[in-house]
Amino acid sequence: MHAIEVERVPDVPAAALKLFEEIMIASVAAHGRFLVALSGGSTPLPTYRALADRADLPWRHAWVFWGDERFVPLDDADSNAGAAFDAFLSAVPVPEEQVFPWPHQDGPDASAEAYARDLERVLGRDGTFDLTLLGLGADGHTASLFPGTGAALRDDPTLVVRPEGERVRLSLGASVLSRSRTVAFLVQGEEKREALTRTLAGEGEFDRFPARAIGARDRLVVLTDLDGIADERSPAAR
Ligand code: 6PG
Repeated sequence: MHAIEVERVPDVPAAALKLFEEIMIASVAAHGRFLVALSGGSTPLPTYRALADRADLPWRHAWVFWGDERFVPLDDADSNAGAAFDAFLSAVPVPEEQVFPWPHQDGPDASAEAYARDLERVLGRDGTFDLTLLGLGADGHTASLFPGTGAALRDDPTLVVRPEGERVRLSLGASVLSRSRTVAFLVQGEEKREALTRTLAGEGEFDRFPARAIGARDRLVVLTDLDGIADERSPAAR
């Protein structure tokens, strides 16, 4: 497991774009594919919008998943996949059969089961994403692993999560989110300072601090515009 690297950057979305491009190009060169799990939320949206102008990237070798989703149709304003399609996926030449929105078919459990099958088919039983993008909520959640729901403690590859006051959520489990060569948390804005500081300040207690349950195969990095955040912390003991 790797230590968490905190990289302070003036512009989180720009840094995320640079990381995305670099890993995409290197992954396709190294093994012919780029397997990415996108994050929802607002932080990555400028990155996604900028990707719309990058038709030059090797999109036909890209395989796109989402770390989590609300259980809503693709055209719902809350859909993470819908937002990514609007921002760039409809503008770049990624083959449709290589893009995997969470299905919104026969209920959340059926969706999670279908997604787990898609993941195994594309990644294989022990396959690895090349890049997983994650956000961090002010309450410390990441993907849809919300504090107090037990979601970060579960080993299932895909989960249905019903956080209080939230729409029904679908999420990759912490172990699948961690099955990535690079995991990058995009954390921007003062409102995230306490959640990031408390997450980095210790180990374990995954149900209180779900992001601590996330590791990576090669590199676990936090891209943040916040100053004064601890540089090196021990990895999530996963
Ligand atoms: C989602 C995300 C969620 C998000 C955080 C941070 O579906 O909304 O998966 O985990 O990354 O809530 O969101 P912001 O980037 O909007 O602050």
